[in-house]
Amino acid sequence: MTKAFDAIVERENKLLCNTYGRYPLAVSKAQGCHLYDLEGQEYLDLLSGIAVCSLGHSRPELADVMNEQARKLVHVSNLFYQNEQLDLAERLLDTCAADKVFFCNSGAEANEGAIKLARRYSSKVAGRDACEIVTLERSFHGRTLCTLTATGQKGLIKDGFAPLPSGFSTVPFDDVAALETAVGPQTCAIMIEMIQGEGGIRPLSEEYVRTVERLREKYGLLVIVDEVQTGMCRTGRFWAHQHYGLVPDIFTSAKALANGLPMGAVLTSDEVARGFEPGSHATTFGGGAVVSAVAAKVVDIMVQDKLADRAMEMGEFAREQALLLAEKYPEHVRGVRGMGLLLGIELACDGKEIWQRLLEERFVCNLTQGRILRLAPPLVIEADDLIKFFKALDLILAA
Ligand SMILES: Cc1ncc(COP(=O)(O)O)c(C=O)c1O
Repeated sequence: MTKAFDAIVERENKLLCNTYGRYPLAVSKAQGCHLYDLEGQEYLDLLSGIAVCSLGHSRPELADVMNEQARKLVHVSNLFYQNEQLDLAERLLDTCAADKVFFCNSGAEANEGAIKLARRYSSKVAGRDACEIVTLERSFHGRTLCTLTATGQKGLIKDGFAPLPSGFSTVPFDDVAALETAVGPQTCAIMIEMIQGEGGIRPLSEEYVRTVERLREKYGLLVIVDEVQTGMCRTGRFWAHQHYGLVPDIFTSAKALANGLPMGAVLTSDEVARGFEPGSHATTFGGGAVVSAVAAKVVDIMVQDKLADRAMEMGEFAREQALLLAEKYPEHVRGVRGMGLLLGIELACDGKEIWQRLLEERFVCNLTQGRILRLAPPLVIEADDLIKFFKALDLILAA
């Protein structure tokens, strides 16, 4: 480690709460698909801030929108009508079957809003005495008290935060029988990720999704899809639920929505949106003019450049490369999971050393669940860059 790096670590230890297990890399600049450290050394970014900077870093068109909007209108409060929110809402609603949006600031806040909307719609509109939210093991929904309770993981995420809110239950992943047993008249909503991100890039089966739909029909419950990581073209469709032909009652977005500016959204039907009324839910910053203008430009670029198709194409290319490594090194690589450019290379053993070697070779990806190398590169990544990454991984596995 260099002196400059040691200095930034020391400075941070003094100044910030100790909540992050940081990588041994300090980023001073990011451009396109590359990050630059304090010495200006270039790294290929195959993570894009965990599925955030899908259009690449420091994109000039987005910087122009940010600059222009910041000189016109930044914030006036949600007491006022603002066209920027509506311009974004129109674009987002064009990508899906939803009718209405609520804007907020993060994935956790979007999921918190989705849970609140589901409960309020059930009690105030549908007249159901049902508050339970059923979620899946290894899911990740955020770190507010409600969303960490909804999260189907044990460990530090929940440790020490009791009492946790009631009305949540967790079922085994993709287990149809367990879901049928757990769900009943008390169930307000089933909340799923179509592909678990933090949980190790695990897609749900078609059969499971059909069961969720059947249970919705049977009990009149709601289906919430967390698209915070999977949404915005990442998996090869604008939204991952579209791969399954599922129409969620509520779904959430964040991460890639404003390509790095903090923004979240709850999308829902006209019917379920009746669950909210003025005073029932709100946020100071949600849908601010600058982030809304940037997000509208993000959606425009994604649609114009057909980035869902590109994610699918590049994802297939990356999958083929990963499968070649699985054939070549069956003792190290078990296979590859995911869709589009949200891929998990499943290693046969603890992946820390391989991940660390990749970082030393200046390739940034991350490790989930200890042995899944997660790839979520900018959707604009070129095949040549993917080839470079897989060559480096090949050499590391050979050694
Ligand atoms: C599927 C999913 N939901 C929710 C969240 C929480 O989002 P945020 O960190 O913006 O609160 C994440 C973050 O990784 C996520 O992957």
